[in-house]
Amino acid sequence: MDSFVQNRGRAALTAFAVAWLALGGLALAGQADKAAGTGYAGEKTCLTCHEAQTKGYHGGVHGRMFNPKTPIATNGCESCHGAGKAHADAGGDKTKIASFKTMKPSEQSAACTSCHNRGAHALWTGSQHMQRNVSCTSCHSIHDAKGEKQLKAKSETELCATCHRAQTNKQLRFNHMPVREGKLQCGSCHNVHGSANVKLLAKGVTVNESCTSCHTEKRGPMLWEHPPVAENCTTCHDAHGTNNDRMLVAKLPFLCQRCHVTSRHPPTIYEGFTEKNSTNANKIFGRSCMSCHQMVHGSNAPSGKAFLR
Ligand code: HEC
Ligand code: HEC
Ligand code: HEC
Ligand code: HEC
Ligand code: HEC
Ligand code: HEC
Ligand code: HEC
Ligand code: HEC
Ligand code: HEC
Ligand code: HEC
Repeated sequence: MDSFVQNRGRAALTAFAVAWLALGGLALAGQADKAAGTGYAGEKTCLTCHEAQTKGYHGGVHGRMFNPKTPIATNGCESCHGAGKAHADAGGDKTKIASFKTMKPSEQSAACTSCHNRGAHALWTGSQHMQRNVSCTSCHSIHDAKGEKQLKAKSETELCATCHRAQTNKQLRFNHMPVREGKLQCGSCHNVHGSANVKLLAKGVTVNESCTSCHTEKRGPMLWEHPPVAENCTTCHDAHGTNNDRMLVAKLPFLCQRCHVTSRHPPTIYEGFTEKNSTNANKIFGRSCMSCHQMVHGSNAPSGKAFLR
């Protein structure tokens, strides 16, 4: 593996000297497919023995881009597998070429981050996935992709489901974020390639900033803030889905009564019907607390202290 890493380093240095191409957030650290005596054999040579590897690859994005006819200069197969002249000269000595079957996860990813290290990919190093030995090739395949974006599964949700059953299953609940319907994807909220925010959130340092990046009307600041709303939307909503209306984590009025216990008003379901307190029963019918406290996310009305308007 050492020779692989060294060769990659050398390729990167040469590229630095020649040109540092930035293309849509992509740094290309490769060189023309000209086998310039640096231990590279060139794609044509590889293909004399590995014709089978063109299946899936030549139709895919890399096969199309890593082509002498495109303006992008690369080392073809060897952009990812490292210089392979020694391997080819030895008639295919397995120990002289970088195989993804035997690389460590960090090495697998290094083969990709030599190019994909900008924009949305800039924060890969140290990200939750990287730290838990998930590599680029845990999710992407180069020669045998099943979905768009070289994904190993047919869809993004299917891919995430292989490791995050609990979150993806919430899509089957009665109320869920419209991922199943295709209006959103897991990636609408998360950047799986790394993020400076909690929970790999793509936007917003906090959960609330993430939610209000789309639900802007809930952003505040409000004249009358409801403290749990200002603190964390997920106190009342599950970001992935629940079996209650509006993805609420509990049914009304119980949701409110988790905090607003039986002091003056409101009542609990039991107190609602005592002789002394019977008028309070309306507090739990129909839309329950929401019949009156419609502005539960906060109010900007001068008299909106109780979120009635
Ligand atoms: C002379 C024929 C030949 C040439 C040329 C050749 N290979 Fe190989 N390659 C082989 C053989 C044979 C194996 C061993 C296959 C095995 O044992 O399963 C192999 C193995 C590999 C493996 C590891 C496969 C595994 O299962 O671990 C990779 C990756 C690879 N070659 C890539 C390349 C690349 C990239 C090039 C061009 C630089 C190249 N080869 C050129 C014959 C060749
Ligand atoms: C963009 C990076 C990339 C390029 C370019 C590429 N490969 Fe691969 N190759 C991979 C990855 C990743 C795997 C692991 C299996 C997969 O993801 O499909 C792999 C798997 C292989 C294997 C099976 C052994 C192994 O390492 O698991 C062989 C053999 C191979 N590639 C040969 C080639 C040849 C020949 C070319 C050029 C025609 C080529 N590759 C181009 C990334 C690449
Ligand atoms: C030599 C540079 C280079 C290397 C190394 C490289 N790529 Fe790429 N990759 C590209 C280019 C160029 C494109 C096409 C432009 C773009 O989408 O940014 C691309 C596109 C992609 C795409 C987008 C596919 C699509 O359909 O839009 C994925 C996913 C990807 N690469 C994954 C990988 C993975 C995984 C590896 C490592 C196994 C890897 N790449 C290694 C240069 C590289
Ligand atoms: C946990 C799964 C996962 C891992 C790990 C992962 N990716 Fe991705 N990648 C995705 C998904 C899903 C998409 C498509 C949605 C998106 O663009 O976020 C994607 C998209 C991409 C794209 C296309 C981006 C675009 O805007 O078209 C590239 C390039 C890419 N990944 C490269 C990489 C590289 C390089 C690594 C390793 C450093 C990596 N990925 C690791 C899941 C993953
Ligand atoms: C190969 C397995 C694998 C796949 C596929 C995968 N993940 Fe992960 N993911 C992990 C592991 C392991 C962790 C770390 C879990 C932990 O620290 O508890 C993680 C963590 C996360 C986290 C939480 C970060 C945190 O701070 O707790 C999010 C969000 C996440 N993944 C989203 C996704 C999404 C979205 C997809 C699909 C595009 C995906 N993952 C695909 C394995 C995977
Ligand atoms: C509407 C935005 C949104 C969408 C869409 C979304 N998530 Fe999340 N996800 C979040 C938020 C916010 C958190 C952190 C708060 C929490 O833990 O409930 C989170 C947390 C996670 C975690 C960390 C574990 C946890 O529960 O804290 C994983 C794993 C995860 N999401 C995976 C996924 C997967 C897989 C999908 C696609 C099926 C997905 N997410 C879709 C917003 C979203
Ligand atoms: C990427 C944009 C986006 C983000 C981020 C986002 N949402 Fe949504 N949200 C939507 C869309 C789209 C809908 C569906 C609206 C529709 O179908 O009319 C929705 C619907 C909802 C609904 C209503 C469900 C129903 O039954 O009508 C709630 C509640 C909700 N989101 C809460 C949240 C919370 C809490 C967060 C943060 C964890 C969040 N959203 C983050 C886009 C987003
Ligand atoms: C104190 C509990 C609570 C908190 C915290 C909370 N919500 Fe809600 N939210 C509700 C209730 C209850 C409803 C149902 C309203 C109805 O049925 O009229 C709701 C409905 C929604 C809806 C759908 C209907 C509408 O008003 O658009 C969205 C979107 C929403 N909330 C987003 C958010 C966001 C974003 C946050 C964080 C800034 C948040 N919520 C925090 C209780 C809460
Ligand atoms: C996580 C705890 C929590 C939940 C759940 C919660 N609240 Fe609150 N609520 C508070 C806190 C804390 C205050 C501020 C109390 C204060 O200032 O004395 C507050 C204030 C209020 C006020 C204004 C009180 C005043 O002093 O005028 C109303 C009305 C209210 N909440 C209604 C609701 C309704 C309706 C629900 C259910 C949709 C709900 N709350 C859910 C914690 C919560
Ligand atoms: C029929 C309308 C109505 C319903 C239903 C209702 N409320 Fe109220 N609520 C009010 C009014 C009116 C006030 C008093 C506002 C004031 O004093 O300015 C109030 C005040 C409050 C206050 C602040 C006063 C205090 O008790 O300290 C809280 C908290 C509250 N309601 C929570 C709830 C909860 C939780 C529910 C559901 C179980 C609920 N309300 C159902 C009308 C209603």
